[in-house]
Amino acid sequence: MMAGRGRNSSAAGGLARHIPVMLSEVLEALQPKDGDIVVDGTFGGGGYAKAILETADCKVIAIDRDAEAFALAGELADAFIAMLGRYSEMESLAASEGVTRVDGVTLDLGVSSMQLDQPERGFSFAQDGPLDMRMGEEGPTAADLVNTLAESELADIIYIFGEERRSRAIAKAIVKRRAEAPITRTGELAEIVVGVLGRKRDDPKHPATRTFQALRLYLNAELEELAKGLCAAERILKSGGRLVVVTFHSLEDRIAKRFFASRSAAGPKGSRHLPDAGGEEFAPSFQLINRRPLEPSNDEIRGNPRARSARLRAGERTDAPAHPLDLTALGVPGLGG
Ligand SMILES: C[S@@+](CC[C@H](N)C(=O)[O-])C[C@H]1O[C@@H](n2cnc3c(N)ncnc32)[C@H](O)[C@@H]1O
Repeated sequence: MMAGRGRNSSAAGGLARHIPVMLSEVLEALQPKDGDIVVDGTFGGGGYAKAILETADCKVIAIDRDAEAFALAGELADAFIAMLGRYSEMESLAASEGVTRVDGVTLDLGVSSMQLDQPERGFSFAQDGPLDMRMGEEGPTAADLVNTLAESELADIIYIFGEERRSRAIAKAIVKRRAEAPITRTGELAEIVVGVLGRKRDDPKHPATRTFQALRLYLNAELEELAKGLCAAERILKSGGRLVVVTFHSLEDRIAKRFFASRSAAGPKGSRHLPDAGGEEFAPSFQLINRRPLEPSNDEIRGNPRARSARLRAGERTDAPAHPLDLTALGVPGLGG
């Protein structure tokens, strides 16, 4: 079930563990009870999974597409099942353990501190490493993208998935540099972006943040995964089961917001009933637990600055049938669209 990734995971031995974000709010929204089965779709450092197991005598099916997450997990309880895969596949992963319905699903999006802080994983503009950025082992790397895509495609990716206004100038600089030699290091890409945008002394945000976000989201298909994962959670949750989602930037949050708005009939006029191709109407499949997204406390942000952009949205499953997946309606961007 679980395979090594061929990278040097021993390099991760001295890493600081991921600090779980909005943990008390997640537990409050999820309300795990004895006998429950909960899917933690983004195991990471195991912070949520461990806390859920400590809160109730329940079973946790923990999913991560990164085998290293489990390699670093250490001792875990018997009631814990580790599954290597994507959370959009949660139904088939759970079915392989004989589970067809669950009481709770948590999704805590993005990368873990262990992934970010390991230069070999290539997610960081702050520490130089190979330009990789893959969460799993499959598919092209960020270096493959920046060295092979057409300038206009690169610009679109940086604009759409990074919301970077200067995307065209950055793509142009990338293409100019790669004509001399392939771009293979995160430091090199960060330097190219700084060369275009400059760097303001008092701005705590690195100028390459948006470009790195764009490449990471695009190559790991993170937004599509999110939309599919939310719909998978909608199908696998029992009536009364709870879905808790923590997002970290506006593109992710827009998808979670549209999902819950369309499923709870609490959204703007027009999303009350989503007509499908045949004109059928769908009853609300979720009741919102919080009408507005929850944000981390100032205390949490002071102790863990990575929590600052977190937003928590949660809903309780009704007994209505699941709605069909519609990537466009949920706000998943596509290139050229
Ligand atoms: C922010 S961390 C989760 C941290 C965790 N909640 C904790 O408290 O330690 C996100 C994790 O989700 C994983 N991940 C991201 N997208 C995924 C997907 N589509 N399927 C499975 N795992 C995913 C990443 O590899 C990463 O380990």
